[in-house]
Amino acid sequence: EKKKIVFSAIKPSGEITLGNYLGAIKNWIRFQDDYECYYCIADLHAITVKQEPKLLRKRVLEILAIYIASGLDYEKSTLFVQSHVPAHSEASWLLTCTANMGELSRMTQYKDKTAKLKENTSISAGLFNYPVLMAADILIYNTDFVPVGIDQKQHVELARDIAQRFNSSYSDTFVLPEAKISESAAKIMDLQDPEKKMSKSDDNENSYILVLDKPEVIRRKIARAVTDSVGVVNYTDEQPGVKNLINIVSAIKGIKPDEVVKLFEGKGYKEFKEYVAETIIEELKPVQEKANELLTEKEKLEKIYGEGAMKANYHAMKTLRKMQKKVGL
Ligand code: ADP
Ligand code: NA
Repeated sequence: EKKKIVFSAIKPSGEITLGNYLGAIKNWIRFQDDYECYYCIADLHAITVKQEPKLLRKRVLEILAIYIASGLDYEKSTLFVQSHVPAHSEASWLLTCTANMGELSRMTQYKDKTAKLKENTSISAGLFNYPVLMAADILIYNTDFVPVGIDQKQHVELARDIAQRFNSSYSDTFVLPEAKISESAAKIMDLQDPEKKMSKSDDNENSYILVLDKPEVIRRKIARAVTDSVGVVNYTDEQPGVKNLINIVSAIKGIKPDEVVKLFEGKGYKEFKEYVAETIIEELKPVQEKANELLTEKEKLEKIYGEGAMKANYHAMKTLRKMQKKVGL
């Protein structure tokens, strides 16, 4: 029986956050045994906003090291870099001609990102087209499931719409993909503004925890995390900062939010925050040790992504050829 296919990616536009780790990577691990998995480092997505070239290359290796250190097994899953498989870009063009301006204009991530920019800042066409490239990433592997955080759900639905449109204008070509969202870590929030999601591209470093943050940095950032004046550890939307910290513990420990609340009955935020910090530190310690060790073996990492690209390329090229034929190329 043919295994179902899983695809997901992280863009190296900054260092990996606890949000990426809990919402994406940790969720990817459980698919490895029963699915054919493609886990990508989306460097083409990173350049939709300007990147420092040297830093971008460094981050690609860092993300690969974190993938492996977190438990992604390069012998089971295909770990690769997006730009190493040119079919992504070419399929993206064919799909750009299938997508329409209206649906792309409705993407909330694009609207949010451009709304934050100052007036007269030029917006790259790449930022607008980003979801089409993402659709290509997903569709060229005939992906069944896309494990992502909730922020990417709309993009996966767009990939599905584009696939459906291509299938009906030509003939059946693509599998229709479905987003798989981790329950407890669907959306880890910004530590300084718990109304928005934690993101690696935030300017304020107190807003996020990085997977490679040192213990003292994690303690400091959690101590500074915004809470409220209620002073009681409750799991409620009225206390979004506290709720977010509860979600983090819940996702790491695999326990229900209510169980976290019970642990802190009659206790204050100071004690709670210390516990949150130590929980994160303990979770990340082995990941950091392994990742830092791997980062001293650059050639090994390059060999791993080289082999990943070969495997990915084989699958992607087959789909791309099919697409080209159907449109008359
Ligand atoms: P970022 O917004 O940090 O740049 P990416 O766009 O590279 O992250 O997303 C990589 C993966 O991490 C996606 O599956 C995305 O849904 C997930 N993700 C990003 N931020 C969060 C978050 N705060 N909580 C949960 N998942 C997240
Ligand atoms: Na994102």
